[in-house]
Amino acid sequence: MCGIIGYIGRENAAERVIYGLKKLEYRGYDSSGISLVEGSKLLRYRAKGRLENLVSALKNIRLHGTTAIGHTRWATHGKPSDENAHPHTDCTGKITIIHNGIIENYYEIKQMLLKRGHKFTSETDSEIFAHLIEENIGKGVEKAVQAALKKIRGMYAMVILHAGEPDKIVAARKGSPLVLGIGKNENFIASDVPSFLKYTKKAVFLEDDDMAVITKQGYTVLNNGKKVSRKITHIKWNDSQAEKNGYPHYMLKEIGEEPQAFEDTIIGRFDSDRAKILFETVNDARLRKMKNVRIIACGTSYHAAYTTKYLMEKYSGLNVSVDIGSEIRYAAPAVTKDTLIIIISQSGETIDTIAAFNNIKKRAGYSIAVVNVVGSTLSRELDSVIYTHAGPEIGVAATKTFISQLAVLYLLSFHIASLKGRMSRKKIRSALKSLRKIPGYIKEIIKERKKIEKIGAKYSRHRDFLYYGRNINYPIALEGALKLKEISYIHAEGYPAGEMKHGPIALVDDKVPNVFIAPVNALYEKIINNIEEIRARDGIIIAVTNRSNKTMKNYADDVIYIPDIDEDFYPLLAAVPLHLLAYYIGVKKGIDVDKPRNLAKSVTVE
Ligand code: F6R
Repeated sequence: MCGIIGYIGRENAAERVIYGLKKLEYRGYDSSGISLVEGSKLLRYRAKGRLENLVSALKNIRLHGTTAIGHTRWATHGKPSDENAHPHTDCTGKITIIHNGIIENYYEIKQMLLKRGHKFTSETDSEIFAHLIEENIGKGVEKAVQAALKKIRGMYAMVILHAGEPDKIVAARKGSPLVLGIGKNENFIASDVPSFLKYTKKAVFLEDDDMAVITKQGYTVLNNGKKVSRKITHIKWNDSQAEKNGYPHYMLKEIGEEPQAFEDTIIGRFDSDRAKILFETVNDARLRKMKNVRIIACGTSYHAAYTTKYLMEKYSGLNVSVDIGSEIRYAAPAVTKDTLIIIISQSGETIDTIAAFNNIKKRAGYSIAVVNVVGSTLSRELDSVIYTHAGPEIGVAATKTFISQLAVLYLLSFHIASLKGRMSRKKIRSALKSLRKIPGYIKEIIKERKKIEKIGAKYSRHRDFLYYGRNINYPIALEGALKLKEISYIHAEGYPAGEMKHGPIALVDDKVPNVFIAPVNALYEKIINNIEEIRARDGIIIAVTNRSNKTMKNYADDVIYIPDIDEDFYPLLAAVPLHLLAYYIGVKKGIDVDKPRNLAKSVTVE
């Protein structure tokens, strides 16, 4: 996702900022840019594509300013282009801003600003912020930023530079990370520590609603207008540790990012007040006409597809089928002009999924891709694309991208149900309320990860695992088993719990751990019956259940508790401990969990 770096000091600011941008490249981006002040002039350079394009544009220009801000952009509003790249400026060209996040009410603000004579040069939501500051710049940049922040809704990390006040950089955060780097006669502001770690190891992490004013000599932090003090953290990581944010593996870092990935994916896509779900890129008129749905994907993305089948059928009443890409590419599936095709792929490059779509696209009524990698093949081939905003995933096993696929698919299921008149405003409002709670709940699960680590260590020497779920949690059992297989090389299978007696029960003995997803709902007693049947055969039970469940400890050898939530939303939480369990077992076995053998992040061969 986007990266931010700002510098103010005595050194060549452009060099410091370009260095910082290089360190932020791992986050993924599709354009970059830099603004700096020289004298009272604001200079700005931007380039689509790789950072080298920006570097070569600057090659023959001698820049000597000592205050600059820079950005790597990962497109959300508006395609990757020079014009949409940050920094953006106001009409006077003296105020420049960079922004990570999404301004939810940008459209209304843009209309208001257009009426007041502002001219825009990009398609982004971010640009409006420079113009909002311009409205009050007479009061000084700090006051103008404060006034502008009051007008916007959404998530942001904002960094602002005003050519009229080159002795300071202003920054503000809500939802998107920002960290100050405190040096000697120089200071930094960035979205991530690696971008300044070479120059200082002193960091101050800003909190939500903080606004910082940064000068050469120091900084002040205000929260909701009141001065606050934030603790200085002494970073002990080296450069490569820092890219993993101090985590030992990308996979653990990315599981840690699941709450943010979920939040980033849903933000800006609904309006709670009006109980409306908004997908900018989706054609609602075409969607409304669809009478059945086919979802196609591979691997973990297929598990997201399967979860959606349960949800979408329940809420929209449509007939939803799910297919594995490699199967459907050679089949003759029933697809008609009232079939909605949904293709799910993190990479957007999975050859089986692409071929499956090619096999049916001419017969489909309307097609939507749910993709993480901007500009990838699948993001271009279908009628519409909905991006998951998980940011780049480096660990080979899909974790945070799975959670953000579910985020899109939950919203899309509710959206279709509402277009079909099957979900009232009241129900939409209540579903949105539950979705908004998910990031906080996932954080609570991750906080308890040491307990899961212990369980992982206890069972890391077992050779086979079975995972069970019922109904909407069955695909999560598949996901738990796949993840364990991939990164621990332990044989694991996922089953619908009711299917146990039709085969898998033959495997039960005192050596096979059986992992149950056991929400406390109408089917809870059925799950307990399955557990009893295994216990009667000396089987080992690991259960994932509600925090308020006081009885499970009587049945299971180990229990992983997750927050209580309405049963339809259970998969969004239950997947997280299963990702963690697989991770800790893999690590305990000494496996390179970020690059497990024989697997590739993007499967572009058949
Ligand atoms: C599992 C995993 C793979 C992918 C599969 C599809 O952890 O990473 O199973 O989910 O290869 O990839 P995408 O989603 O890129 O189409």
